[in-house]
Amino acid sequence: MKNLTALLPIDRPIVQAPMFGVTTPAMVAAAASTGALGSLAIADLSPQKSIEQIRATRQLTNKPFAVNLFVHQVPEKTDELRKQYTHTKSYIEDIAAKNGLTVRLPELDTLQITPYQEQIDALISEQCKIVSFTFGIPDPQSIQKLKANHTLLIGTCTSVAEAIALEQQGIDIICVQGIEAGGHRGSFIGLPQIGGISLLPQVYESVKTPLIYAGGIYNKNNMQAALALGAQAVQIGSLLIASKESALLPFEKERLKTVKENEVVLTNTFSGRFARGINNAFIQSLASTDYILPYPYQNKLTAELRRIARAHQNSEFVNIWIGQSIQSFSTDSTAAIINRL
Ligand SMILES: Cc1cc2nc3c(=O)[nH]c(=O)nc-3n(C[C@H](O)[C@H](O)[C@H](O)COP(=O)(O)O)c2cc1C
Repeated sequence: MKNLTALLPIDRPIVQAPMFGVTTPAMVAAAASTGALGSLAIADLSPQKSIEQIRATRQLTNKPFAVNLFVHQVPEKTDELRKQYTHTKSYIEDIAAKNGLTVRLPELDTLQITPYQEQIDALISEQCKIVSFTFGIPDPQSIQKLKANHTLLIGTCTSVAEAIALEQQGIDIICVQGIEAGGHRGSFIGLPQIGGISLLPQVYESVKTPLIYAGGIYNKNNMQAALALGAQAVQIGSLLIASKESALLPFEKERLKTVKENEVVLTNTFSGRFARGINNAFIQSLASTDYILPYPYQNKLTAELRRIARAHQNSEFVNIWIGQSIQSFSTDSTAAIINRL
């Protein structure tokens, strides 16, 4: 197995998790300044917006950092999908109105959906040399293009089968995501729900690719446990969500202070893909209903609702992603939190 420090520009076994909506260029630069790997999240932003984020980060650091994107297949707009979209749109507008939020959600044909291949072309044109991804494996042609550009590839798995699939496609590093993790599940073969302490050693025994572990890391002891189970680094997300550089608004950071362990749930109501976060009125209104479209449609549909809810500081209608390790959610700088770990 290759040594991770020989592949990545890191002095310590820590990766700042890419967290779309939370990670800022300042967070990435701060993480990089500590000798950890910073990761910029571009999710499914347009190529132009992706480039803006990359350049903004480069203004703040001259260290290399990873750029992270969502590798997803866009389902066709069938008649069935169109019908379901209309129903879901009016259902969500209705529950929002009942809760004092006036929103007009977008029509299906106005949604801006970016195929990830366009982002990959932008990353290559910007000479990004570390690319991490979640939700799947880029198609062989994209992998070939990235490799021809000497890009290091970090894929996400949530099962042994996914780890093997990533290795077979020549992915350089695998991020093993335990069920504890905050934010979206990276799953792309079924919906595995495997705890990190089971998954990580099994993946370690099944592949030769160097591993990063993500999910629930919040202190030195559980970080060392992950390193003992086969990871060469840990990826930390929730530990940084209230940090000085986080894009969360003050009311969202405030909500973190009172979160209870039984309020942390997996839900597909916001985006159509399962993600872990704080339970609220929106999740409860949609859970177990038919008003959940496949990703990315649900995600695009609810984006406007989330924007308005944020403007109204309404934590019942925004997605606040966190993992299972509830801790003090420090508001210190990203660098201070990483240095403490
Ligand atoms: C707010 C938030 C947003 C996230 N967004 C992304 C993302 O854009 N891309 C990604 O690969 N993972 C994303 N994740 C998952 C993280 O990469 C990582 O797996 C997770 O944070 C690890 O678990 P922890 O939160 O318990 O540390 C996100 C996690 C959080 C908490």
